[in-house]
Amino acid sequence: MADKKLTILGIAGSLRKSSYNRAVLRAAQLLAPSDARIEVFELDGIPSFNEDEEQHPSAKVIELKERVRAAAAILFVTPEYNYSIPGVLKNAIDWASRPYGNSAWQGKPVALLGASVSPLGTARAQYHLRQVLLSLDMHALNRPEIMIGNAAERFNEQGELTDEKTKELIRRLLQNLVAWTRQISQQSASAD
Ligand SMILES: Cc1cc2nc3c(=O)[nH]c(=O)nc-3n(C[C@H](O)[C@H](O)[C@H](O)COP(=O)(O)O)c2cc1C
Repeated sequence: MADKKLTILGIAGSLRKSSYNRAVLRAAQLLAPSDARIEVFELDGIPSFNEDEEQHPSAKVIELKERVRAAAAILFVTPEYNYSIPGVLKNAIDWASRPYGNSAWQGKPVALLGASVSPLGTARAQYHLRQVLLSLDMHALNRPEIMIGNAAERFNEQGELTDEKTKELIRRLLQNLVAWTRQISQQSASAD
C-alpha cells in the first residue's frame, strides 16, 4: 500500500552542536502525529548568498530546494539573534527563494516555533520570520504560538526536551500543521 504519511521538512536555524533549537526539532520528530513524518535538513555547508551565483547554486543549495519542494509542509525552529532570525537561517531562505520566479517556498504550508535562553523565547525573531514568510507567499499556521523561553530549564543533560507543557504544545502545533496542509492541498485540488 502507498505510504500516505505527510512529509514535513524541519529546518532549525542553528549550527551549534548542543543547540536547543535543533533539540526541539528532534523532539518534534518524536511528537509528530502518526500520519506525518518530520525529516530534518541541516544548514551546515550552505555558502553565503551571492546573487552573482544564484544561477549556479552549490550542491547543498540544490539539495535544499529539492527537499523543500518534495515536502508537503515546512517546520522552522528558529533561535533569536539580536531580536531577529539568525543569519544562517535567513541565508538559506534567501538561497531557496532564488532565482526570481523559481522559489522553492512558494505556496508551502509552514509552522514555526523557537527556543531561547531568555524569557521571551524568540517572540521577536518569530515575528520577523512571519514577515519573511509573507514575502515568500507561504501559508503560515497561526496557532499555537510556541515561544520556548528559559530553554536551559526545559532540557536534560542529553539535550532531550523534558518540559511536558512544551511537548503538548508541539503535539498540537504538528496536528494543526497536518490539518492545515491537507486543507490547503484540497482547496488547490478543487480549484484545478
Ligand atoms: C549573536 C547572538 C545574539 C543573540 N541574541 C539574542 C536575542 O536577541 N534574544 C534572545 O532571546 N537570545 C539571544 N541570544 C541567545 C540565544 O537565545 C542562545 O544562544 C540560544 O541558545 C541560541 O539557540 P541554539 O541553542 O539553538 O543555538 C543570542 C545569541 C547569539 C549568539
